Amino acid sequence: MRKEIAKNIFEVGASDWNVRNFHGYLTHYGSSYNAYLVIDEKITLIDTVKAPFGEELLERISEIIDPSKIDYVICNHVEMDHSGAMPVVMNVAKNATVITTAKAQQELQLHYDTTAWKWDIIKSGDQRKIGSRTFDFVATPMVHWPDNMVTYLEEEKMLFSNDAFGQHIAHSEIFADELPLDFVFQQAKTYYANIVMPYSPQVVNALKTVGTLDIRMICPSHGLIFRKDLDKYLSLYTDWATGKTEKKAVIVYDSMWHSTEKIAKAVAKAFENKGYQFKMFCLQSNHISDIMADCLDAEYICVGSPTLNKGMLPTVASFMTYLQGLIVKGKKGFLFGSYGWAGLSMKFMQRFFDESCIETVDTINEQFVPTKDRLNEITKQIEDKI
Ligand code: FEO
Repeated sequence: MRKEIAKNIFEVGASDWNVRNFHGYLTHYGSSYNAYLVIDEKITLIDTVKAPFGEELLERISEIIDPSKIDYVICNHVEMDHSGAMPVVMNVAKNATVITTAKAQQELQLHYDTTAWKWDIIKSGDQRKIGSRTFDFVATPMVHWPDNMVTYLEEEKMLFSNDAFGQHIAHSEIFADELPLDFVFQQAKTYYANIVMPYSPQVVNALKTVGTLDIRMICPSHGLIFRKDLDKYLSLYTDWATGKTEKKAVIVYDSMWHSTEKIAKAVAKAFENKGYQFKMFCLQSNHISDIMADCLDAEYICVGSPTLNKGMLPTVASFMTYLQGLIVKGKKGFLFGSYGWAGLSMKFMQRFFDESCIETVDTINEQFVPTKDRLNEITKQIEDKI
């Protein structure tokens, strides 16, 4: 049985210990799909779990109450890691009413056979009482889909935030303060960078509303619950959402015969000379999703590829594609690489930088093998433009 996190409020979701790939994001520590059962005069289930964990969810609920007695199922978000078990729940809880937004209703109808479901369609700012307790609903569109909302339980001051404030961590513990906090925050940052970052402007808006609430506990739908360190977590989220950067550069590259690698080191030397923290990632050894947390708070993103045939190396193209989907405005960068007879990689990398709204400060494109003197010149050239 999952823990009672407040009187008559239970976390009843499931840990997915072995999931390692979430839409291309490597989840080294698995994940969890948190669902919350609130027992009052009316019984409410807040969100469900991924479909394969539906029976597990029902078993956990059965340890507390008969699932057929559920009165309300709140759907904060339609994505299938949270709604996948709704059909099995609704099939058992035949009298239950789904509380959600009009947008989520529309999307649920495009996922499942909902013909037998009863609905209570709410708008942002609406409230529902379930006895001694009151739910407030706040729409948070595009954090992460158009349908997203968060649910606030007034009396307990608990925020059921769904994807927001999540971390991909499978866990036997339930509260973040039961694990090393730095680890949880690092996973939250990685999660933000790989999932939430493109919606940062919407997160800023959501934080404005959430900031007006008196929150005692943040209960996300992935990972650990926060009952301590809330101010720190909200502050980190604000930094991430507003694009706050460190004096830091991320240098990402792949190389065929080490020339691009040599240039990468010359670029790194320039940042070192200017007192920047820098991190280097060769794409032969690093997965693209493992780089994004460092991209989130880096002032500079530098990318290097040799020319392969008419373009760049596929590893670099993969990184650029992923970056383009996630990154928000406000970054600067350098592009670099080597070539034999037609330096075409730069053109394609430039296109990705332009479409990612990354300002290209300079490009370095060297034929064959740069000499030591030339590498020193490159360092000076970059240094002068940082
Ligand atoms: Fe965890 Fe957007 O679903």
